Amino acid sequence: MKKLKKSSFSMVGVLSFFALIAFTMQVAILVYDYIIKRTVNKGIIAVLILILVIILSVIITVFDFLRRKIMVERPVKRIINATEKIASGDFNTKLEIAHTYDKYNEFDVIMENLNTMSAELSKSEILKSDFISNVSHEIKTPLSVIQSYATLLQDDSLDNESRQKYSKILLQASKRLSDLITNILKLNKLENQTISPEYKKLNLTDTVAEIVIGYEEIIEKKGIELECDFDDIMLVSNSGYIEIIINNLLSNAIKFTDKNGKIKVSLKSISNGGVIKVSDTGCGIPKETGKRIFERFYQCDTSHASEGNGLGLALVKKVIDIMGGEISVTSEISKGSEFTVVLKNVEADI
Ligand SMILES: Nc1ncnc2c1ncn2[C@@H]1O[C@H](COP(=O)(O)OP(=O)(O)OP(=O)(O)O)[C@@H](O)[C@H]1O
Ligand SMILES: [Mg+2]
Repeated sequence: MKKLKKSSFSMVGVLSFFALIAFTMQVAILVYDYIIKRTVNKGIIAVLILILVIILSVIITVFDFLRRKIMVERPVKRIINATEKIASGDFNTKLEIAHTYDKYNEFDVIMENLNTMSAELSKSEILKSDFISNVSHEIKTPLSVIQSYATLLQDDSLDNESRQKYSKILLQASKRLSDLITNILKLNKLENQTISPEYKKLNLTDTVAEIVIGYEEIIEKKGIELECDFDDIMLVSNSGYIEIIINNLLSNAIKFTDKNGKIKVSLKSISNGGVIKVSDTGCGIPKETGKRIFERFYQCDTSHASEGNGLGLALVKKVIDIMGGEISVTSEISKGSEFTVVLKNVEADI
């Protein structure tokens, strides 16, 4: 936001108005002196002085009128027009500022702020419409799966095996829908959060271990090896946020690692916190698209797109940002990926 350097009621303006008044009075005195010396008739003197006063008043009024018109009315009119446009939803409104920044007056600062405001509104409008189109797309895909398989299930002659298969697909699609809604609600809640979350001293090792245990069966079923290496760490943090981080990193590692692969979860103690690493020997993340994986709805691997909505890592990033931690990733195509999360004791009233 630009700060005011110069007032529109500057010394130059004040001095020029003062000079005009002084000049007018001087002229009046000289003319009066001229009239008095050459005219004896008192009636004529009074009329001439009246005419003189009228002429000089008109000059001052015209000058003041022009000054107001140029310095106040014009910019105010432009500002009113712009605010009307913005109020009617035209967020591309941009006011041209005549002065350079070092010569800005109050009106220039208002115009500059209006430009910033409409640019911000336009940005959030784009984000909103992108979000709506992403959500609609993510809803449409599982919905059309549900519609087609529900139609297939209506066939009375369908054998039992196909019926089982189709119901499984229906369940997966409806789970994808409910995961999408859950993640959107979670993200929304985190973004609109005004009160700071509850932080407690917790045993990070136990918290992570409990979550990992919940995945053991599915990891085993997929034929993946799991290795854990945990230091003992006590940390001031939020267990709900830790759950979001581990659940998403681990479920991604499982999703993107094939049979006979390996997943490693490690916890290392650092001063004032801990480092969580989740690595896998899965498909890896392409370098050029890897930078975008923390964006909402971004998925680099289209072959697994039906198994998620691209919101997991956006949620992870959000909670890590709230706690003041860090997340980074290293990856190599066909070799695997490693996500590193640094968590520090959250400074909070506990
Ligand atoms: N361990 C990983 N190995 C390979 N690619 C990964 C890994 N983790 C994330 N990715 C890539 O990053 C993308 C974004 O991940 P994210 O967790 O946000 O979404 P998702 O898993 O596709 O869907 P969701 O988490 O909403 O179920 C993934 O689609 C995938 O392309
Ligand atoms: Mg995910």
